[in-house]
Amino acid sequence: MGRKTFPKDFNWGVATASYQIEGAWKEDGKGESIWDRFSHIPGRIANQDTGDIACDHYHLYGRDIELLADLGVKSYRFSLSWPRIFPEGIGSPNPKGIQFYKDLIHKLLDKGIQPAVTLYHWDLPQTLQDRGGWANRESVAWFEQYARYVFQELGDSVPLWITHNEPWVVAFLGHWLGVHAPGMKDFITALQVSHHLLLSHGKAVQAYRELGLKGEIGITLNMAYHYPGTDAPEDFEATKRAQEHIIHWFADPILKGEYPSYLYQWYRQKDLLRNFIKPGDLETIHTPIDFLGVNYYTSHTIRHSPADWPLELKTIPTSRPRTEMGWEIYPEGLYDLLVTLTKEYGGPKIYITENGAAFNDLIDVQGAVEDPNRIDYLYRHLEQAHKALEEGVHLAGYFLWSLMDNFEWAYGFTKRFGIVYVDFATQKRIIKKSGQWYKQVVAQNSCFGITV
Ligand code: FCB
Repeated sequence: MGRKTFPKDFNWGVATASYQIEGAWKEDGKGESIWDRFSHIPGRIANQDTGDIACDHYHLYGRDIELLADLGVKSYRFSLSWPRIFPEGIGSPNPKGIQFYKDLIHKLLDKGIQPAVTLYHWDLPQTLQDRGGWANRESVAWFEQYARYVFQELGDSVPLWITHNEPWVVAFLGHWLGVHAPGMKDFITALQVSHHLLLSHGKAVQAYRELGLKGEIGITLNMAYHYPGTDAPEDFEATKRAQEHIIHWFADPILKGEYPSYLYQWYRQKDLLRNFIKPGDLETIHTPIDFLGVNYYTSHTIRHSPADWPLELKTIPTSRPRTEMGWEIYPEGLYDLLVTLTKEYGGPKIYITENGAAFNDLIDVQGAVEDPNRIDYLYRHLEQAHKALEEGVHLAGYFLWSLMDNFEWAYGFTKRFGIVYVDFATQKRIIKKSGQWYKQVVAQNSCFGITV
């Protein structure tokens, strides 16, 4: 029997996001984003790092495309900086902003690399935040205008679109836990934001369809699988809450046209739901998509915990190994997740739009970066993805996070996720051993038995 491979047309890619790599934060007419504002506030980001320069990709994108070509990936997932295109969020577009993305896309296509574009990977124009940001229902119309414009400008050359990246993170890390921009700490606002993000997604999908574009459009959700910490019924129920909070609160409205009833009632009883769901909203959110994007890094073990308002649960540590982020490594959770999504939502097409690991990479005396732990992490997740494929999961592609080390949000430059090492002082890039390994994975369409 031959070696196990992935399906013939499996889409192998890598991923990045605008604020994490571009730099050039106020160049060529770009407006300020909420991440520019947030990262400039002392104390918000490790080491007071900012994305002002980051990987300087705005200037070095030509070189970065060479790297992508060298790695042989079929597809490159990146995001658009909304304030680079609309400095004021709405109103007049900035010609140099849209031109940057046209040039990038053009060069990718020249190399035979398919662009996969995320509309919103967290860098909201600050002018819109000043008007309430995602908590303001008008944000839905702002996003729709922005989406429509970029579809018109770039739609013909981009085969794959992602409306939002990880709306849970935007809503809850940004508005409840306050560790991401805009740094708010209010659960009620976070729920309202989650609804507006979902609604803006639905509106953008409708705009895409109206324009008659021929590519695929979907959304990327951050997902973890949740397991009960003990056999106690209250831990099972807490696990259900965790799973509904992270996954179903977002996936159910999109794929079923309704909020998950158990969690909805939970929020209602705690008087956390303001009157933000208007007639017709769920129909809009339920507009058919072409695929579901799944970001998977870790899983959680859950216990009931009445002291932890409002979900009354907590994640408990296990003995599993961890990455440099402190995230537990549990590849089997990816399999459980993919199989569950397939059962619950009638076998949607799925892309893994992010998966990867931060480790403490060092350059050795030969100038090489050996990262066997990252190769191990990637291999073990791809193995589970393959197992899910064998079980009939409609998995169509895998985008590794990340092409290169970059600005890891509140952690600044302290966490390296790349398969390409970046020396931030010189902007030198070095393909890590994991990059060489992934190149072989793509070339051989298999993760099995690859040695580099
Ligand atoms: C995800 C984000 C991505 C990156 C990875 C590590 O939540 O989408 O930008 O930060 O985590």
